[in-house]
Amino acid sequence: MTAQNSSDPAIPLGVLSEAFIAKATSRDLRVGIVGLGYVGLPLAEAFVLQGLPVVGFDIDDSKVKMLGGGKSYIKHISDERIAAMYAAGKFAATTDFAKLKQVDAILICVPTPLGEHREPDLSYVVATTQNIAEHVQPGQLIILESTTYPGTSEEVLQPILEQGGLKAGVDFAIAYSPEREDPGNPNYDTSSIPKVVGASSDLERNMACALYNAIVPTVPVSNLRTAEAVKLTENIFRAVNIALVNELKVVFGAMDIDVWEVIEAAKTKPFGYMAFYPGPGLGGHCIPIDPFYLTWKARAYGLNTRFIELAGEINSSMPGHVVDRLGEAMNKHLGLAMKGARVLIVGLAYKKNVDDMRESPALDLIHKLKARGMKVEYSDPYIPVAPSIREHPEVEGMKSVPWTQEALSQFDVALIATDHDNVDYTPLLAAVDLVVDTRNAIKQRSDKVVQA
Ligand SMILES: NC(=O)c1ccc[n+]([C@@H]2O[C@H](COP(=O)([O-])OP(=O)(O)OC[C@H]3O[C@@H](n4cnc5c(N)ncnc54)[C@H](O)[C@@H]3O)[C@@H](O)[C@H]2O)c1
Repeated sequence: MTAQNSSDPAIPLGVLSEAFIAKATSRDLRVGIVGLGYVGLPLAEAFVLQGLPVVGFDIDDSKVKMLGGGKSYIKHISDERIAAMYAAGKFAATTDFAKLKQVDAILICVPTPLGEHREPDLSYVVATTQNIAEHVQPGQLIILESTTYPGTSEEVLQPILEQGGLKAGVDFAIAYSPEREDPGNPNYDTSSIPKVVGASSDLERNMACALYNAIVPTVPVSNLRTAEAVKLTENIFRAVNIALVNELKVVFGAMDIDVWEVIEAAKTKPFGYMAFYPGPGLGGHCIPIDPFYLTWKARAYGLNTRFIELAGEINSSMPGHVVDRLGEAMNKHLGLAMKGARVLIVGLAYKKNVDDMRESPALDLIHKLKARGMKVEYSDPYIPVAPSIREHPEVEGMKSVPWTQEALSQFDVALIATDHDNVDYTPLLAAVDLVVDTRNAIKQRSDKVVQA
């Protein structure tokens, strides 16, 4: 089966789009999702739950096999949820990209990291688009969901997709809709976060909105670039505000003012203030990376993004600040030098309640503490063994220290880098003489606990 009547490419997109919208409304539309990671997998589930058939595509054969066996590889998505997707008879995962011909809409959810010189690395998006271009059908809708700079859909995707002779907006449709997933957030998930949708024409935008309206309310915007800019704006807003509160932490700390108490009181103001929290540095696949997509693109317009650069500078100085504070605290409270002392990093994931350690500040902390001669281990209930990470070969194979008073008492000092909700700090406080807390995980203030 092909998505539309591919034997007659002369049928205008306007006509094909009517059939597309009718199928979306009746939940018959076949959705293809390329990239079954933290974003693509929950998105697939959201469509399946609303009765739309989904084919998931990934180049990683091991992920496809796990899904086929009813297993999840993402902590906050249970095996039961994967099994339920299959049981509904609406989901299949494959590495066979020829099956892209069989779907009506193709949603791209592949990584968009930074390159060695902090330039956008669109290699995953380009490789995926080339794959799609080989199979694109008249009447299909292709949507990029990966975070990227304004202009990517028009300047990078569209020319590749048109290489076979079909034209965007004439034969097939293009839209951009940023993913706003917040993995592990118990209050919001893919099916409750509105989708911003941008396209170059009303026709294409209407198709994309019809698709997403099957799962969530949509926010249409006037073009592709605007939708691309919305996502960057959201993440730059976070990066800059986190940098601001990290700067306040350092300044208030020097004045012996507890920044956490300040924030708790400030956020009682019902307007004009939004609480952001300090930490040991930025982590994850989004906030440390996405702002620099705009920085790179702005250069093409002869413009600097000074807020973004400054926020990046402050946020990336946080692990160094924390290590300095830890050294001072050891000196003051324990009379111990860093060299040769044993430190336990509590929490390796980049944020609470997830098993994702991409760009985690804990990695930088480990590197810096080892450089000061400390013996470093970690404990994280969600990461029993540290996987291979290209930029941090020294962590590979490290094993999580058991959370028992006996195991914890081997350490001179503990450094809380991530505050998973299910961690009880009682055995830690009983076992070590000093805890350096970057997350306000231990609410009870005492001589033993130092904020950093
Ligand atoms: N993780 C988040 O919290 C989050 C939130 C919002 C937006 N985003 C954005 O969404 C995008 C995807 O992020 P993610 O966290 O889901 O990444 P991820 O690494 O978890 O998943 C990406 C998936 O794409 C697959 N893949 C890579 N190249 C492929 C190709 N050529 N064809 C098919 N599959 C391919 C990988 O095997 C992997 O399964 C990024 O642009 C990211 O910035 C992520």
